[in-house]
Amino acid sequence: MAVPDPDDLEFARAFVAANHWTYAVTYAKSAPHEYVVRDKLSPALKSDYDRFARLIVAVGHIENFYRQARPYWVLDGWKYWWMENIINRDDNSRVYGEQVASRTNTDKPINDFDRMAADWDTRVPPLVKPAEAVMVQAALEPDSDRGILDVGCGTGSLIRLLKPRPSGYLGVDPSSGMCNVHVFKHPAHRVAALTLAEYAMHPAAHPWTTVAALNGAASYLTPDEVEIASELADENLYLMFFGPTMTPPVPYNHDGLAAALELPGIEKRELGRWTLIARSSRLC
Ligand SMILES: C[S@@+](CC[C@H](N)C(=O)[O-])C[C@H]1O[C@@H](n2cnc3c(N)ncnc32)[C@H](O)[C@@H]1O
Repeated sequence: MAVPDPDDLEFARAFVAANHWTYAVTYAKSAPHEYVVRDKLSPALKSDYDRFARLIVAVGHIENFYRQARPYWVLDGWKYWWMENIINRDDNSRVYGEQVASRTNTDKPINDFDRMAADWDTRVPPLVKPAEAVMVQAALEPDSDRGILDVGCGTGSLIRLLKPRPSGYLGVDPSSGMCNVHVFKHPAHRVAALTLAEYAMHPAAHPWTTVAALNGAASYLTPDEVEIASELADENLYLMFFGPTMTPPVPYNHDGLAAALELPGIEKRELGRWTLIARSSRLC
């Protein structure tokens, strides 16, 4: 889990105390738990509910409930999980079914991406507009089945666009919140809660046919990571940086783009609102 701030913990404990947790009688034998229903809360508590739900996703770990993998946050002996209009908790004494979920834990302090992960797909305006999506698909799709490293994978927009086979895919992203949502949406596709630099140090790291950082993920890479991305890309490198007209929700600096422009054999393209730095036979 990403490590919550003291403020988050204070808020979460106050939320737990302020609510009445209803015992789920119909699940008493099969899966005992208690719950709070958002629709029944006052407006003030509804906004606290939303913050608590975002925290569960931001700092939780992945666990399976039978075949469903989702984030769970263990706080003061209770295990909390979020199901849209309901937040549930149980006494953290059971697991259900085989536990084969990806590990999305980090020991890093909670960051802006963690906090936005739960509603990244709905709150952040679509990062790739339909016309841009067609351009990204045209650039990447034919390669996507031959091994793709999705750098800064977020909640998995590359999977929606390109539908890579699970066996030929790995997403890396240091935000455990983003990784949690990714696993919930695409349980068969592996993710690792690592920066690209941390992935490169891992004994299991290896080159990929394609290395892609979509929708501005490249803008968060350090110059060293830009070089790592280039080294890991056997055939195709696609680094999508925010273009000059874009104001992303999390600030970034421009060192990575400067480093990318120095890479040998690359081409710079404007791709809709984005700046694409690529090395690929497909773009020639
Ligand atoms: C703008 S989001 C893009 C997410 C996703 N690629 C998409 O298409 O929606 C940028 C992502 O880069 C991740 N990120 C930030 N620093 C990173 C790093 N050093 N290595 C890998 N990913 C990083 C963030 O956690 C975040 O999820």
